[in-house]
Amino acid sequence: MKLDKALVEQFERGLSPQHLESSTIKANLIGFGEISSIFELEAVPGVVFKRMPMFSNPQQAHAYLEKYTTYCSLLSEAGVHLPEDSAIIVERSPDLTVLYFAQQKFHPDSIGNKVVDLLTEKEIRQLAEKIFGAIYGVWAFNKQSKDVELAIDSQLSNWVFDKQTGSLFYLDTTTPLFKLNGAEQLDPELLLTSAPSFGRAIIRKFFLQDVMDRYYDEHSVNVDLIANLYKEQKPALIPLFIEVANRFSSREITQKEIAAYYREDKFIWQLFLRLRKTDRWLHEYIYRKQYQFILPEKINR
Ligand SMILES: Nc1ncnc2c1ncn2[C@@H]1O[C@H](COP(=O)(O)OP(=O)(O)O)[C@@H](O)[C@H]1O
Ligand SMILES: [Mg+2]
Repeated sequence: MKLDKALVEQFERGLSPQHLESSTIKANLIGFGEISSIFELEAVPGVVFKRMPMFSNPQQAHAYLEKYTTYCSLLSEAGVHLPEDSAIIVERSPDLTVLYFAQQKFHPDSIGNKVVDLLTEKEIRQLAEKIFGAIYGVWAFNKQSKDVELAIDSQLSNWVFDKQTGSLFYLDTTTPLFKLNGAEQLDPELLLTSAPSFGRAIIRKFFLQDVMDRYYDEHSVNVDLIANLYKEQKPALIPLFIEVANRFSSREITQKEIAAYYREDKFIWQLFLRLRKTDRWLHEYIYRKQYQFILPEKINR
């Protein structure tokens, strides 16, 4: 994928993250992540950009990009189909480097949490089988490789399903969680840059390892995917997904466990968002520094 680096650089230099509409290069916000914000630049149709404003120097951004590249090629080896991609590093100021990932843009109706609204029950079942098939491909890959262990965030909103061709893609590659010879490759402190400094100690102590570990664990990944259907306001799909998951899984998943997990998960992410909003307020009114992250106003859960 060929990109106009100068244009992205110009976008970054003119960007004030809380006032996207005032940007000289016209952009639309497509999605929010816990870390990245996802834009489309009007001058570059067919491409989405995931902006990661969390590096204090270019070396850090290059190192992250290298992990990303390795993670993507390992996922492909494990049989997961990924979008076409590219990356651009912009040194914004002496202490802020921003990494932009670019991906081919998929139609909004083909993203997992949207596409299920357009499918029959039979097609949804086929989609669920494809998704669990891809996830279990990753576990099989981990088992047969001596030194590599891949993690995956299996939530519905991370998959793209092309109804016409029946092909499945995985989108959420920009947090490269994997281990080499048992050693975590992603520096967890980088994930914490999106958390307010006053809350980091708590998050580090109580949540971070937990949240990272769950993406390596077969049972947790299944439970996380299914419980997330509550957040997507699709509880009616839960029995179907449990049934399909239980065909793949050696450990039975129950409706009760899904509900309990969701209550806790909801608590964690709501707390996290509240802390971040407080931090944004502090940046604006007390520290008087630009706050780099774009936060959703309210997430219906
Ligand atoms: N390549 C893409 N094409 C279209 N929409 C996308 C693409 N990548 C991300 N999105 C939208 O943005 C959302 C968040 O992207 P994702 O990469 O999963 O980031 P996060 O790590 O924040 O979950 C996706 O669920 C999807 O709705
Ligand atoms: Mg995602």
